Amino acid sequence: MHCLALLVTLGSLTAVLGRNQEEKLLKDLMTNYNRNLRPAQGEGDIINVTLKLTLTNLISLNAREETLTTNIWIEMKWCDYRLQWDPDEYDNIQILRVPSTEVWLPDIVLENNIDGVFEITLYCNTLLESNGCLLWMPPAIYRTSCAIFVTYFPFDWQNCSMVFQSQTYSANEINLLLTEEDGQTIEWIVIDPEAFTENGEWVIKHRPAKKIVNAERFTPDDLGYQQVVFYLIIQRKPLFYVINIIVPCVLISSVAVLVYFLPAKAGGQKCTVSINVLLAQTVFLFLIAQKVPETSDAMPLIGKYLTFLLVVTVVIVANAVIVLNVSLRTPNTHAMSQKVRQICLRRLPHFLGMHMRRSDMAPHPLLVRRRSSLGLMVKADEYMLWKARTELVFEKQKERAGLMKAVLEKIGRGLENGCTQDLCHSLVQAGPEIRACVDACNHIAKTLQEQNDFDNENEEWILVGRVIDRVCFLVMASLFVLGTVSIFLMAHFNQAPAAPFPGDPKRYLP
Ligand SMILES: *[C@@H]1O[C@H](CO)[C@@H](O)[C@H](O)[C@H]1NC(C)=O
Ligand SMILES: *[C@@H]1O[C@H](CO)[C@@H](O)[C@H](O)[C@H]1NC(C)=O
Repeated sequence: MHCLALLVTLGSLTAVLGRNQEEKLLKDLMTNYNRNLRPAQGEGDIINVTLKLTLTNLISLNAREETLTTNIWIEMKWCDYRLQWDPDEYDNIQILRVPSTEVWLPDIVLENNIDGVFEITLYCNTLLESNGCLLWMPPAIYRTSCAIFVTYFPFDWQNCSMVFQSQTYSANEINLLLTEEDGQTIEWIVIDPEAFTENGEWVIKHRPAKKIVNAERFTPDDLGYQQVVFYLIIQRKPLFYVINIIVPCVLISSVAVLVYFLPAKAGGQKCTVSINVLLAQTVFLFLIAQKVPETSDAMPLIGKYLTFLLVVTVVIVANAVIVLNVSLRTPNTHAMSQKVRQICLRRLPHFLGMHMRRSDMAPHPLLVRRRSSLGLMVKADEYMLWKARTELVFEKQKERAGLMKAVLEKIGRGLENGCTQDLCHSLVQAGPEIRACVDACNHIAKTLQEQNDFDNENEEWILVGRVIDRVCFLVMASLFVLGTVSIFLMAHFNQAPAAPFPGDPKRYLP
């Protein structure tokens, strides 16, 4: 029991002693320490400040505002000769945590920020070693400006950079460097796979880091002379846009191509379908316009594609109007020239392998028979009406029962007796009616022929419409397929380059 109490007291004693030692050390270090003075021993001393960037999260790249938002840790190291101590004198304290607000800082800021936050988010403590070297690792959420190249949107890759430089000290006072670890310069942005959260929209392709010396534009006295730049070359994952915009667009537009298969009898529906498709495409164009930056420098690939689809659909609408105009012509209003007939009804269908009923071919026997049953009756009646007004009215003996009946009656009377003479007599008697019958047949044949000619020419116009439809369908369908394929090929070949800097095969990776 006593033993335990003693141990506890001893433990707290050493703790208090330790804290006292730390307190004493901090107090000793800070007496006469002016954090505003650069830790230069001699006049021309240049302080080495090394930088290392650890990316924990690529939060977003807002294409519209051209902003890259990242969550990073900036690791800075430098040595301050005033903050050295002998660990033996202070209970073997090797490392001391010093508030960063109490020591000299190299004033390193993010140059290309976009929201006025040049500094870090949290002023955490620095780690001070006994040799006077400090390690400071403040976290920051940076919003960097990043010029977006929209030409290949949404199959694009972007090149963003984060530029760090000292806001106060020139190259004559501090020397910005990339961190060296195990004799190797860390020429890349460090990503700890365990802490890093993958972005859903972007894949990091390259992440090199470089010290840039702008010798031709600045002198070492200028602040912009030396910079440490971290690049992020990222490629967009296009699946979202493929599923939400491209696939619906392709499907809807392929519906517009089907308009060519609507018969001319469907009339205005040919136009209605294609105009509906046009409206749907406009909605998608609107969606795209909301996604890309409002730049007139370049047109995004998807915008080009949608415009192309719009043009195709507009041409389809115009086609539908022309085809309707041609198909619904009648011989009363338009005469078909021999040339049109030759080209549209003979050459083109033959060339396209279309099956059409050739107007110059002998009419199909089946067709004639079908016509004869009902059509001829109607024609006969028509003849009766026509005749009634002229001759039949004056011929008293022929009543409404009809011509045929009278003829048959007369011939039948002759046949009843079974004598040739009677038959001949009755035939002679029926003579005028038979003539009238022949006349009627001739009339029927003539009107039928006329009607046939009229229908034929009508049908010819419809056939011309069909041929135009077919030609335009082939042209438009191949244009549509070609355009779609070329867009996807262009997208496929727009990959981020294999190396982060053109002409420099170095990968800048561990
Ligand atoms: C600073 O870094 C340079 C290398 O870039 C080195 O030659 C020089 O000795 C370093 N200075 C100090 C004080 O460590
Ligand atoms: C990215 O941009 C930097 C300049 O900001 C340039 O030096 C570098 O070559 C670019 N990388 C690629 C792959 O274009």
